Amino acid sequence: MKVTIFGTGYVGLVQGAVLADVGHDVLCVDVDAAKVAALQAGRIPIHEPGLQPMVQANQAAGRLRFTTDAREGVTHGRLLFLAVGTPPDEDGSADLQHVLAVARTIATHMAAPKTIVNKSTVPVGTADQVADTVRTVLAGRGAQIAFEVVSNPEFLKEGAAVADCKRPDRIVIGTASAAAEAQLRELYAPFNRNHDRIVMMDVRSAELTKYAANAMLATKISFINEIAGLAERLGADIEAVRRGIGSDPRIGYSFIYPGAGYGGSCFPKDVKALIHTAQSTGFTPELLLAVERRNDAQRQTLGERIVAHYGGSLQGKTIAVWGLAFKPETDDMREAPSRYLLQALWAAGARVRAHDPAAMGEARRIFGERADLTLCESPADALQGAHALAIVTEWKIFRVPDFEQIAQRLRDRMIFDGRNLYDPAVVAGHGLGYVSIGRPGVSPPDKA
Ligand code: UDX
Repeated sequence: MKVTIFGTGYVGLVQGAVLADVGHDVLCVDVDAAKVAALQAGRIPIHEPGLQPMVQANQAAGRLRFTTDAREGVTHGRLLFLAVGTPPDEDGSADLQHVLAVARTIATHMAAPKTIVNKSTVPVGTADQVADTVRTVLAGRGAQIAFEVVSNPEFLKEGAAVADCKRPDRIVIGTASAAAEAQLRELYAPFNRNHDRIVMMDVRSAELTKYAANAMLATKISFINEIAGLAERLGADIEAVRRGIGSDPRIGYSFIYPGAGYGGSCFPKDVKALIHTAQSTGFTPELLLAVERRNDAQRQTLGERIVAHYGGSLQGKTIAVWGLAFKPETDDMREAPSRYLLQALWAAGARVRAHDPAAMGEARRIFGERADLTLCESPADALQGAHALAIVTEWKIFRVPDFEQIAQRLRDRMIFDGRNLYDPAVVAGHGLGYVSIGRPGVSPPDKA
């Protein structure tokens, strides 16, 4: 099928590549000319396993093209996807300016019936707003052309975006139109083999489903972080508690890992937006407000622990930081817990030596040159001359470190672990002090 995707961010680019890969004829449109030029040359702006070869192969096959030409985009696809950003507005609500701008562009250029499919995460009611916008522009042109607006939220995870898109666990489609349903069923048929993954519903329910999914996951994380705080105060071990509750299939093992808080481009933004939506209807979302408050506190906790350990000041101290990305397998640092940690360390007077396997370029872009930050090429290099080590992202290469080397290099022999990567007894066995989340601490050794 001929498909156009507006927006070549995470969702649009991955979706475009995956649709082309099963044989659809995909044209991706973006207003960013530099980005389009890079994509045309096969250069991918994001770090995502498997994406680069997939884009290049489908470009070579002529099934995946990139353009800044919106008119060409509108003409090309029978299905027009909206996959543009919905950044948070000042008040936390989702900013719809990009979504509505594309709606106007579509209405300006369309000359034949179109199905507009919204993949961006947007507040309930946005499909109606898009439809109103298109209708108004068409009326201004004196044109009478049929169109539908469908909600088809995306559930991919960064770092596993290609795999998630190729093998979705559900395909949520919100529309009342039988014709639109038939088109989307045809589009997704290659992803819907063996058993039916398509969940049909009305437009508003589909829009709310996306927020409900992310809010539920964020709730699980804030819940376990709250219990971790309790475990610390009660002398219990959150890792034992986690295994103990996860074994109940009603609870499950996933998304109950305590840590330095959730980050990324989705959870913080979507929880905020859902709170705003609720409040705009006069309804107080008690639970969501608490989920957000717990996470705000959780992202401060690693920094607070380090500063408290040193009695309130980090003057003259150098802290090695392992991990900057908001999670492994991505270079994304949006809302990353590491950013809160670095600010806390700097505010207390520390110097930072940081390493991340993927996000070094991103860190350079965000922080620029500063005297109190050294970006190091390896985890071992970050330890050089540092007093203590802080771990913020659970990259695989940090999981089985050379503890002897850590003990030799760290002047104060302290590890502050925001992801509970190690067995406290093993760390203590190497003569290192260890502070983690929700577990009994191991005091630092007396220095010889
Ligand atoms: C999330 C959703 O998983 C995805 O379905 C949706 O489409 C977009 O938002 P993503 O933001 O890529 O995806 O990351 P995810 O893997 O869900 O992790 C989010 C954050 O939660 C990370 O900062 C991670 O470290 C944290 N997390 C996750 C925990 O702290 N504990 C956990 O148990 C799980």
